[in-house]
Amino acid sequence: MLVEMRQMSCMREEKYLLKDIDWQVKPGENWAIVGLNGSGKTTLLNIINGYMWPSSGRVRVLGKELGRVDIREIRPSIGWVSSSLQEKLYTHEAVEDIVVSGKYASIGLYERAGTADRERALSLLQEVGLRNLGGRRYDTLSQGEKQKVLIARALMSRPRLLLLDEPCSGLDIFSREQFLKAIEGLCRRAKGPNLLYVSHRVEEIIPGLTKVLLLRRGEVHSQGDAASVLTTENLSDFFEIPVEVRWQDRRPWLIIRGDSSGR
Ligand SMILES: Nc1ncnc2c1ncn2[C@@H]1O[C@H](COP(=O)(O)OP(=O)(O)OP(=O)(O)O)[C@@H](O)[C@H]1O
Ligand SMILES: [Mg+2]
Repeated sequence: MLVEMRQMSCMREEKYLLKDIDWQVKPGENWAIVGLNGSGKTTLLNIINGYMWPSSGRVRVLGKELGRVDIREIRPSIGWVSSSLQEKLYTHEAVEDIVVSGKYASIGLYERAGTADRERALSLLQEVGLRNLGGRRYDTLSQGEKQKVLIARALMSRPRLLLLDEPCSGLDIFSREQFLKAIEGLCRRAKGPNLLYVSHRVEEIIPGLTKVLLLRRGEVHSQGDAASVLTTENLSDFFEIPVEVRWQDRRPWLIIRGDSSGR
């Protein structure tokens, strides 16, 4: 198991951010974690990454029990990409340097990058669909391009888990689709990593994300194979408003059928 949670709860200021979560991620599974704003998605990723602590229950990540193992042991095996990190990070550095730094940043070490590292960085950039960026500064890139650079950077340390927190926020519809194509490519990669893809948009659940966890107010509403979770009936129950799911090109698209003005 890559992630194993049993009756995991996380409380802050007498409020449940997450409650009684039972969830397992098996090798080879790529999950979409979906919920409205404030439903606990980022908190869940923070717990996996050891940035937040559960209040009760058990959490094992990459086979290690959190609380018993030094989190620094497993963190290099976890890649993290989120659009909120994007602007805080680098500015003037060259794109390749940023990608190469992913090899060391997660373990807090700095060594001189070798030729092999540079070659790998270039091939990762190519893999996420960025070519001909040679020498460009990170702060001159568009938001979509930056997001791809951060993915290439996260892959540099060969993580076993890749956590993506709302990676499409701020992208226009075409940049988003292009970005999702790169993500789909990652899902099909023979040697992983396994993806945990957080979003509040059902439309971003690409075919490679075959498993879905629906979070509502800190609790698991439902989970399982995408086709069984993403039904008109289940999503209407989840959103507490009539919706309709239409599948097109193996992607679910949501149409609101009820009155959402009261939400
Ligand atoms: N450290 C904390 N202390 C107190 N409350 C917190 C803390 N971290 C998160 N919360 C609260 O927990 C709830 C869930 O937050 P979280 O960031 O996990 O939601 P989310 O599903 O990622 O939402 P969004 O889609 O807006 O990013 C929110 O109400 C948030 O204000
Ligand atoms: Mg969030």
